[in-house]
Amino acid sequence: MIQSAGKVISNKKVKPGYFLMGIRCPSIAKKAKPGQFLTIRCGSDSATTPLLRRPFGFHRISASGFEILCEIVGKGTRFLSGLKPGDKVDILGPLGNGFSVRKGDKNFIIVAGGIGVAPLASLAESLTRIKKAEVYAIIGARTKNALLCADHFNDIGIKTMIATDDGSYGKRCFATDILNEFLKIKRGFRPTIFACGPEPMLKAITHIAEKRGLECYASLEENIACGVGACLGCAIRTRSGYKLVCKDGPVFDIKEIIW
Ligand SMILES: Cc1cc2nc3c(=O)[nH]c(=O)nc-3n(C[C@H](O)[C@H](O)[C@H](O)COP(=O)(O)OP(=O)(O)OC[C@H]3O[C@@H](n4cnc5c(N)ncnc54)[C@H](O)[C@@H]3O)c2cc1C
Ligand code: FES
Repeated sequence: MIQSAGKVISNKKVKPGYFLMGIRCPSIAKKAKPGQFLTIRCGSDSATTPLLRRPFGFHRISASGFEILCEIVGKGTRFLSGLKPGDKVDILGPLGNGFSVRKGDKNFIIVAGGIGVAPLASLAESLTRIKKAEVYAIIGARTKNALLCADHFNDIGIKTMIATDDGSYGKRCFATDILNEFLKIKRGFRPTIFACGPEPMLKAITHIAEKRGLECYASLEENIACGVGACLGCAIRTRSGYKLVCKDGPVFDIKEIIW
C-alpha cells in the first residue's frame, strides 16, 4: 500500500450524475489489480470535512495511472466531480484483495448492477486477454441514462446483455433474470461469475450460483472508514467468521457470505 499524490489528467461527465476521472499515479498503478480499490481524500488540504477518505474501485488500469468511474451521491463525490486536469489528489492504494482467476478457467460471466460496473471493467479487459476465453457480461441499470460501460464492454469483444428497470434500453427486467435465462439456454456452459452491484442483486446471484453449483466472486461495497483493517468498521459475517471488507475483501466467494 502506497500513499501518493496523483495528478488529475481528465475528468468528464459520462451520464447525468456520473463522472470518469483519469489520474496519473504510476507508483500505485503499477501495483494495482482488478477488484482492488483506492481511497482518496475528498477536500482541499485545509478542509476538515469530509474527514474520511472515500473508496473507489480501479475502473481501468495502465502503467502510468488509472481511471475511476463514480456516481455523485454526497459531499466527497461532488468534490471529486469538480476537480480539473492538473489538480492533485491524495491517494492511498492499492487496497484489498482483488479478483482472482482460477488457472485454466476460460468461461466467465460478469454481472454488474448500477455503479457496480465500475470495478468490473478492468477485470473484463484482463479476461479478454486469456487465450480462447469465452466472456459474457450482463449490465443492469435503473434506466438508459444510468447505464454505464455497455459500449466499452462491446468494444473489447465481450457479448453484453442489458437489463433496465424501466425498459428504456435492453430488456425490461433485472440483470439476474437475464442471468437465469442465459444459463438455462446455454446448457453445459459453466462459467465463473464475477459480480458487483446492489445487495439484492448479489443475494439473487448467490441463490443462482448455489443452485447451479457455479463459482461466483462478488465485490462488496460496505461503508469504509480507515480502509486498512484498523478500525473493524467494515466487518461482515461469513461462514468462516467475521471478515473485513477493506482487508479480506472487497472480493469474496459469494457462497461464503452470510447475508
Ligand atoms: C470497495 C469499494 C469500492 C467502491 N467503488 C466505487 C466506484 O468505483 N465508484 C463509485 O461511484 N462508488 C464506489 N464506491 C462507493 C463510494 O465509495 C461511495 O459512494 C462514496 O464513498 C460516497 O461518498 P460521498 O462523500 O459522496 O457520499 P456520503 O455523503 O458519504 O454518502 C452519501 C450517500 O451515499 C451512501 N454511501 C456512502 N458510501 C457508500 C457505499 N460504500 N456504498 C453504498 N452507498 C454508500 C450513504 O449511505 C449516503 O446515503 C465503492 C465503495 C467501496 C466500499
Ligand atoms: S474500514 Fe477500517 S477495518 Fe475496514
